[in-house]
Amino acid sequence: PRDEFVAELMAKMTIDEKIAQTVQFTADGTVTGPKGGDNFINEIKKGNVGSILNATGVKYTRELQKLNLDNSRLKIPLLFGYDVIHGYRTIFPITLGETAGWDLEGAELSARIAADEAAASGIHWTFAPMVDIARDPRWGRVSEGSGEDTYLGSKMAYARVKGFQGNDLSLNNTILACTKHFAAYGAAEAGRDYNTVDMSERVLRETYLPPFKATVDAGVKTFMTSFNEISGVPATGNKFLVNGILKNEWKFDGFVVTDYTGMNEMIYHGFAKDSMQAGELAMVAGVDMDMVGGIYLKKLKKLLNEGRVTEAQINDACRRILEAKYDLGLFEDPYRYNDEKREAATITKKEYLDAALRIANKSMVLLKNNNNVLPLHKEQKVAFVGPLVSDDWNIIGSWAATGDRQGFAVSVQEGVNKIITDKSKVTFDKGVEIVDQRRDMMQKALDNARKADVIVAVMGEFENMTGEAASRTNIDLPGIQKEFLAELKKLGKPIVLVLMNGRPLTLSWENENMDAILEAWFPGTMGGDAIAQTLYGINNPGGKLPITFPRNLGQVPLYYNHKNTGRPYLGASDPEQKYKSRYIDSDNSPLYPFGYGLSYTKFDYSNLKLSSKSISMGGKIKVSVDVANTGNYDGEEVVQLYVKDEFGSVTRPVKELKGFRKLILKKGEKKTVEFEISTNDLRFYNIDMKFVAEPGDFEVSVGGSSDANLKDKFVLVK
Ligand code: IFM
Repeated sequence: PRDEFVAELMAKMTIDEKIAQTVQFTADGTVTGPKGGDNFINEIKKGNVGSILNATGVKYTRELQKLNLDNSRLKIPLLFGYDVIHGYRTIFPITLGETAGWDLEGAELSARIAADEAAASGIHWTFAPMVDIARDPRWGRVSEGSGEDTYLGSKMAYARVKGFQGNDLSLNNTILACTKHFAAYGAAEAGRDYNTVDMSERVLRETYLPPFKATVDAGVKTFMTSFNEISGVPATGNKFLVNGILKNEWKFDGFVVTDYTGMNEMIYHGFAKDSMQAGELAMVAGVDMDMVGGIYLKKLKKLLNEGRVTEAQINDACRRILEAKYDLGLFEDPYRYNDEKREAATITKKEYLDAALRIANKSMVLLKNNNNVLPLHKEQKVAFVGPLVSDDWNIIGSWAATGDRQGFAVSVQEGVNKIITDKSKVTFDKGVEIVDQRRDMMQKALDNARKADVIVAVMGEFENMTGEAASRTNIDLPGIQKEFLAELKKLGKPIVLVLMNGRPLTLSWENENMDAILEAWFPGTMGGDAIAQTLYGINNPGGKLPITFPRNLGQVPLYYNHKNTGRPYLGASDPEQKYKSRYIDSDNSPLYPFGYGLSYTKFDYSNLKLSSKSISMGGKIKVSVDVANTGNYDGEEVVQLYVKDEFGSVTRPVKELKGFRKLILKKGEKKTVEFEISTNDLRFYNIDMKFVAEPGDFEVSVGGSSDANLKDKFVLVK
């Protein structure tokens, strides 16, 4: 019925009406670039718009929908899109932080809740998940993705699409997901946003595209092209990517939208001579909707009349968009997302806030814990200091949709106060600001710290130092925070550093000088509770880094699954120190590797077993390992499986994540974890660009980080 309905409708549509479906304008609200087109209200009145972004709330979206329907000859509903990235009103940890939980159910659940809230508030479509593999912490948008690893990123991407779209889009609490940014945006040169990307097709297909493909497998309905060019061709005019890989090879049947003015930007890229050519290139590439740029609205008909695009191309774009509207049930009832009562009953309900707390708790990564400084004890006198100690603004992070900040989000101070009833045990002082270099608050904070048993410094970045247009050339703790830490250190008390940040920071000094470090990311609405519960041991941290933390910025890009080089450096024990692939002023190794994270308890790995030492093509091998909780607390561990292909027709990474399991182990408990490796998992793009496994030797390693050191080998025979 959908296909018939859409075909019948399109048979009645004029070319102008079809083109209108491909046009998206922004309402006021988050504006991340110049606005194309006239006033969006006028454009709606003229029947020129298929979709609106940045309009939220039942009341407002209803008004706009009514305005549209009153002016639409064929009563075609508007589609309302919005950036619902890590929550709509109940805000979850930033995506990078949520990924640190390695919790696929949690990722699906947070997307489900975000969709439920957004849908109850008039939204049909989110511009998420962002699935860009990112290996350069200078890039502010690492905060929005799942980090550096293709395998973990693909699993997360799949889970999030399932969460947003549910199993049935016709239910009015599901929304369209949008996989972005297609493609390779995370590889922008020098970590500068919107910058150029140049990469081989092999790297593109092997490292950057799999998370995109995973979302197609999950049934995602829309895709967004990226701002960057790839090897000379901007993504928005990239036939090879959009029509070629996405629509033909992967059989993606949804629609593709540009990023904000991405079509117009092809002129600045030097790829299109004018907006006519930009529109032509985008349409021919397979781009269906123009976000904000106004080019399709103004030029598509002219391009058709001049024979530069075909009617079939416009029809295809229009059809895909109408089908999405049909799938959402908007033709049946354009106001099915516009129920005030539902909105009030759904937003930030207790169950959702509880889930936000659970997920934030899982996102905590313990980077250091000397002498078991953590967890804190309620009897200890603790001086909480730092610019983010009472913050309820930055804590929910960037791209936080309609998330309430001041007065609603839980700060660390509030979280601690819920646990510590004896107020003589705690003090709270900012001491310094994040960027501002004022020093007049420092003394009071130092005085309180001097009287404490333990100091907890809550520091980091402003939320807007990460996310879009927030690249940094220095990823140290900003401002004079480190200087303040040095003053605190002189007091000779144990110091715990709690960090809120949206990217890896360079923490070599902090690692040397602090007793404990807890990476809390921007943990969301319930973040202060999660941090306090973790500090006081109500939550035992079990998060693992989804991205490498370098020792210094000069090492960047630094990621665990790099190639070996012809002169690999073995570290300080290497007998040859000079002519090796290394720096003369820094170690090659990261400060904290991918997959790393401590716990208050201790996990011991033993008894790694392979079911066979050789497998044949098409076969499988079982890998098992025993994991024991030998410490003093119940805890959660992410057991990670890595595989190294020792040699190939093209060189292979030193190791690659091929599986993980989250394990809950009671104190003293031991469990056996099993993985299966099939020859499918060993495939890569060989010298002929065929996706195959090649016979040869493989090394398996298992452990609690990418430094996993329990190892064994097997052979793949023909
Ligand atoms: O979805 C975003 C995208 O990630 C960056 N540019 C603007 C879009 C819409 O807000």
